[in-house]
Amino acid sequence: MSAAKKEYKRVTVKSLVEMKRNGERISMLTAYDYSMAKVIDDANIDVILVGDSASNVMAGHETTLPITLDQMIYHASSVIRAISRSLVVVDIPFGSYQSDPKEALRSAIRIMKESGAHAIKVEGGLEIKDSVKRILNAGIPVMGHLGLTPQSIYKFGTYTVRAKEDEEAEKLKQDALLLQKLGCFAIVLEKIPAKLAKEVAESLTIPVIGIGAGGDVDGQVLVIHDLLGMTKEFNPRFLRRYMNLYEEMGKAISQYVTDVKTRDFPNEEEQY
Ligand code: KIV
Repeated sequence: MSAAKKEYKRVTVKSLVEMKRNGERISMLTAYDYSMAKVIDDANIDVILVGDSASNVMAGHETTLPITLDQMIYHASSVIRAISRSLVVVDIPFGSYQSDPKEALRSAIRIMKESGAHAIKVEGGLEIKDSVKRILNAGIPVMGHLGLTPQSIYKFGTYTVRAKEDEEAEKLKQDALLLQKLGCFAIVLEKIPAKLAKEVAESLTIPVIGIGAGGDVDGQVLVIHDLLGMTKEFNPRFLRRYMNLYEEMGKAISQYVTDVKTRDFPNEEEQY
C-alpha cells in the first residue's frame, strides 16, 4: 500500500477514511486548552481528542469518572477556538450517555452546539448500541473506543492489558464490527494485544486508532502530557516520551525563583 501523503487543509471524518484507504497513518493527540491546541494544530496533527483524560491530567482526579459534561464542553470550546486544520473529537463523559439513548443524544447535542466540536467519542460496544444509533441518526459523527475503556475501570479493577483471553477478544471483534455497521467513522483501541488490534484493523473499512495496541493499526493516539513528559509517574510500556518537559519546566521555574530572589529579574532592559 502507498504511504503517499495528501495535503488536507481541513481534516474531516471523510479524510480519515480516505487516509486509511491510501495507507496514510493518522496522527491523533489530546488537548484540553487553547494554547496547547494551537501548538498541536500548527504542528499538523490530524485529530485532536478532547479526552476525558482531562479529569486526570487537568483536574488531578485518579480516574476519568468525575469529569462533568459542562467541564468537557468548557475544555472543548477552548480547543475549538485554537484550531484551523485538525478534526476535533470530544469524549462524552461517564454518566451522560449510558442510562438512556435520549439522554445520550441530549449530551451529544450539547457538546456539538455549545463547543463547536466536530464529533464525539463513546466507550463501549453492544451495551450502548441504542445510544450510538440515536446520536448518529441526529447527524453527529461518532468515534468508538474499545479495549481498556477507562470509564469502566472499576469493573476491570486494573489498568492492565485487555482482551488477552479468547472470550473478551471475540466480544471486542464483534463490538468493532457492530460500531462500524452502526455508522461510526473510526474506533480507538486501547491497551490490547497488537495481534488482535491488527486483526480488527484489517477487518474494518473505518480507521482504527491505537494506544498501546501496536503498530499495525491505522493511526496512533497519545495523551499530550505523556508525550511531552509532564506525567513523570506514568510509565506504561506503550508510551514514547518525546521530551522531559517536567524537568525542563522545573529548571526554568527554579531559575526564575533564583532571579527574583537575587534581584537579577527584572534587569534594566526589562522595565519601562
Ligand atoms: O481520554 C483520553 O485521553 C482517551 C485516549 C487515551 C484515547 O480516551
